[in-house]
Amino acid sequence: MTASREAPVTLRSSRWFAPKDLFGFLHRTALRSEGFSDIALSGRPVIGIANSHSELVSCNLHFDALAAAVKRGVQAAGGLALEFPTISLSEMLTKPTTMLYRNLMSMDVEEMIRSSPLDAVVLVGGCDKTVPAQLMGAASAGVPAIALTGGPMQPGSFRGRRIGAGTDIWRCTDDLRAGRMSPGEYAELEAATRPGVGHCSEMGTASTMATLTEALGMSLPGSAAVPATDARRGALAEETGRRAVEIAQEGLRPADILTLEALENAVTALAAIAGSTNAVLHLIALAGRLGVDLPLDRFDRIAARTPVLTNIQPAGEYLFEDLQRAGGVTALLGELAPLLHLEALTVTGRTVGENIAGAEVWDRDVLRPLDAPLQPVGGLAVLRGSLAPDGAVIKASAATEGLLAHRGPALVFDGIDDLLDRIDDPDLPVVADTVLVLRGAGPKGAPGMPEWGMLPIPRKLLAQGVTDMVRISDARMSGTGYGTVVLHTAPESAVGGPLGAVNDGDEILLDVSARRLDLCVAPQEVSRRLAQRPLPDRPYRRGYGSIYLDHVLQADAGADFDVLRHRPGEAETEPRGLLEGWISGW
Ligand code: FES
Repeated sequence: MTASREAPVTLRSSRWFAPKDLFGFLHRTALRSEGFSDIALSGRPVIGIANSHSELVSCNLHFDALAAAVKRGVQAAGGLALEFPTISLSEMLTKPTTMLYRNLMSMDVEEMIRSSPLDAVVLVGGCDKTVPAQLMGAASAGVPAIALTGGPMQPGSFRGRRIGAGTDIWRCTDDLRAGRMSPGEYAELEAATRPGVGHCSEMGTASTMATLTEALGMSLPGSAAVPATDARRGALAEETGRRAVEIAQEGLRPADILTLEALENAVTALAAIAGSTNAVLHLIALAGRLGVDLPLDRFDRIAARTPVLTNIQPAGEYLFEDLQRAGGVTALLGELAPLLHLEALTVTGRTVGENIAGAEVWDRDVLRPLDAPLQPVGGLAVLRGSLAPDGAVIKASAATEGLLAHRGPALVFDGIDDLLDRIDDPDLPVVADTVLVLRGAGPKGAPGMPEWGMLPIPRKLLAQGVTDMVRISDARMSGTGYGTVVLHTAPESAVGGPLGAVNDGDEILLDVSARRLDLCVAPQEVSRRLAQRPLPDRPYRRGYGSIYLDHVLQADAGADFDVLRHRPGEAETEPRGLLEGWISGW
């Protein structure tokens, strides 16, 4: 089904610029002072370009060139492009964690769109949190929007090996700690690992979110995996600008695209790429902005019927740019067609089925067929049990098979400082069967739910050749991470969740096939311990941190703010007191 939106909508921007009165005068004059002429102001669709370019975010350094290409497309289609900056978030530099600020960036994007005379917006983003923040903000603003993700960086090269920007670092760091790599080699790796602009080159969170943005129908087909420095990305940017003018005229809003069917398509894609567990949080939060119910268990159900098709690190061997060589996300969705809602509308104005018609696969080692997948079931599983009453997540595709059913004694770390102080202590009471537990690392506890969930293997075990252990936390994990790592345990210990009741030596049972995560301690004893355990002090008493603590939800609600979720009957898509009513009373 193709969207039929023949009747052009009244442009939102006309409320600012059309009135022949003082206010119209003032608004037009604001643009005249930028040098725009009558021609530019004569009722053209105004297209905002939300640019997350920042010299603090190396992945986004090419965004000014992309924004320039978007402008070319907007102008060629008869629109007026106005670029504006937003907060940007760097996985590498922003402390304590970008997740603390994802919701802040989404509010920045939402309020800039809502308060400005825009008929549509192009979202230019490309590090882990910038893309979900932009999608969430645009969904809440309700103005037509189209996303342009930044593309992956080129692979690094280290001693004759092609390397990625994350997974190889974790492996080499273990090698360094185990004495298998010298400090000199490690320094050489540091210089080689990120050879240019673009997002991390594996199926980390940024590649995952780029893939899901396309699967959601919010970016152009075939756009996600085109490398950052590939000239075709400039052409895609131009085409995105051109399409932005059309969606402004059609009035095609995010809520028209981001339906339950679209979100389920994204979950299917997430499972098929063995994507980042962070995407679970982002998709739930995005659904919450639209009033769409996307419970955690839906991820499990969809993953259980979806094979892993992409052979990309950390679950496989290749890098994200190789998916482009194999046919891109269009080809991936083509392979997944029997599992998708093909009738879902996309930002092209066409359905998913129409977008992927005729898609071909050019490299079957990178992108496997449904009947001969990389792994028979999807990359993630949702666990429940006495240790995670509201759920926990494991990326089973990147775990050690033999640890997916495991019972072992707990060794507990109370926060990251305790972990760092003790993990390499030669006297640490740990064996390969030990279950490492980190608490105080959730949305409120850390705060911000940092990517601390891939706890390092204790040095003394690394020296014995141990490469993986069961690790459990209320934290997140980098999308490039791997191991038998249970994440997002909810409720977190800082709000009284059962992780807080675990003592050293308690037996913990992990059974991924049964979807269980249990603390093998009598429930009365767990209740007694929790009643005696004081909740942590509030780490922020003023500013954004304090607001965050007042409003952030748990992982099973996507760690969004309660006040940012959709409230039926309270849609607020326009600034209050916008011109018409105000002027008529002037
Ligand atoms: Fe930006 Fe990985 S650090 S995408």
